[in-house]
Amino acid sequence: MTASHTVVLRDVTEDDRRRLRDWRNSPEVAAFMYSDHQIGQAEHDRWFDGLAGDARRCYWVIEVDGEPVGLANLADIDPHNRRCAWAYYLASPSVRGLGVGSYIEFWVIEHVFRTLGFGKLWCEVLVSNEAVWKLHERYGFQREALFRHHVIKDGAPADVVGLGLLATDWPARRDEMAQRLLAKGYALPFT
Ligand SMILES: CC(C)(COP(=O)(O)OP(=O)(O)OC[C@H]1O[C@@H](n2cnc3c(N)ncnc32)[C@H](O)[C@@H]1OP(=O)(O)O)[C@@H](O)C(=O)NCCC(=O)NCCS
Repeated sequence: MTASHTVVLRDVTEDDRRRLRDWRNSPEVAAFMYSDHQIGQAEHDRWFDGLAGDARRCYWVIEVDGEPVGLANLADIDPHNRRCAWAYYLASPSVRGLGVGSYIEFWVIEHVFRTLGFGKLWCEVLVSNEAVWKLHERYGFQREALFRHHVIKDGAPADVVGLGLLATDWPARRDEMAQRLLAKGYALPFT
């Protein structure tokens, strides 16, 4: 398969305020998040206004061919321990399955290990979100934790997996993942 899609991660701007609330409240995104209540304007504004100047968090809007399609972020940025967590979503099912998720994995891993020089990237994923934790595992993330009944989803306790990738793990996976991206028609980021 060859794709000619261009994926860009850009800074969040004021123009994204409404878009991010709409995305986050949509069933296609809320289904995969820890909390799935409808987020009101005041709650959203508190979150959005708190992003600026928070050194422990970093957000990017994912654009495909110039169209905003999702959100990626680093969380718990911890320079002392040289690690951070991350997450992302593609808001529209229409852009899923095009390789965008693979591109985001590669981009974030390279950014954290090469640009930030951190030693570890980790994340938490609902066990039910098999597509995502399998994608992470393909990129070399190892399952480090199983948090039982960690969150209430749809009114019932749900399990969560914790996954981690070390900077020292990545070289063994990088070339194969780069080839997969190239085969899907994407240019490698940071090269
Ligand atoms: C899972 C998801 C993030 C992957 O992003 P994507 O751009 O669709 O993924 P890609 O097109 O790069 O596909 C990567 C691989 O995962 C597989 N895959 C993607 N979605 C899948 C799904 N729902 N079920 C099974 N496999 C899936 C693809 O077949 C592909 O395998 P391949 O490389 O062997 O062809 C996205 O499809 C999705 O469903 N998101 C749900 C909401 C979300 O964003 N959740 C993240 C919460 S942290």
